[in-house]
Amino acid sequence: MEEVAISIVVPMQKHEVATMACRQDFMDSGADMHIPGSGEIQDFTNFKEWLLHCQSNNNINQPAGRVRSTQYLVMDEGKKHVVGFIQLRHSLTQYLYQSGGHIGYSIAPRARKKGYATKALRLCLKKAKLLGIDKVLITCDIDNLDSESVIKKVGGKLENITPNEGLTKSKKRYWVKTI
Ligand SMILES: CC(C)(COP(=O)(O)OP(=O)(O)OC[C@H]1O[C@@H](n2cnc3c(N)ncnc32)[C@H](O)[C@@H]1OP(=O)(O)O)[C@@H](O)C(=O)NCCC(=O)NCCS
Repeated sequence: MEEVAISIVVPMQKHEVATMACRQDFMDSGADMHIPGSGEIQDFTNFKEWLLHCQSNNNINQPAGRVRSTQYLVMDEGKKHVVGFIQLRHSLTQYLYQSGGHIGYSIAPRARKKGYATKALRLCLKKAKLLGIDKVLITCDIDNLDSESVIKKVGGKLENITPNEGLTKSKKRYWVKTI
């Protein structure tokens, strides 16, 4: 199995080309695209605007009903490519507790099944620990077996499965100890 060296880094202007190339990889794979854990990058054709959006998501003062989050790029250190996105929410709202969790992530279609998500999640668990969070909630759709496998690999303990409510899929809610 090929060993990949990765880092998770807060996006900066110098990451524009690599980040937008990664975004394009997602966009090429489907029209109606939501990229979990990416700070809604699917909605931004302008990198600077996305950067400002991520920075404002990390401001101490957030609008009612929102909590601070830190956005990271998942970087392949060997290739110097951005291969995905991971976002750490610093606390939970009722919605995040029920459904969204502390951490969201996505790996670009071309880079999947190489271990990037599992490694990125481990690094993000360390970031959460530094924020004083002892365990994080991570959720996945009931049929998202790849995501569930990643959560289990980092030690996830299943809390429950949320009921299916109309158009919203049931979610599996896992707690993971930070490291
Ligand atoms: C879920 C997602 C993040 C997983 O990313 P990933 O980088 O492919 O995940 P990993 O490679 O760490 O692990 C996934 C699988 O690849 C396998 N894998 C890891 N390295 C591998 C390698 N070198 N060769 C073959 N398989 C490998 C893992 O064992 C795992 O498979 P398993 O089910 O047999 O355990 C990715 O599919 C994705 O972005 N999906 C869309 C967005 C999404 O669902 N996000 C999560 C929201 S909760």
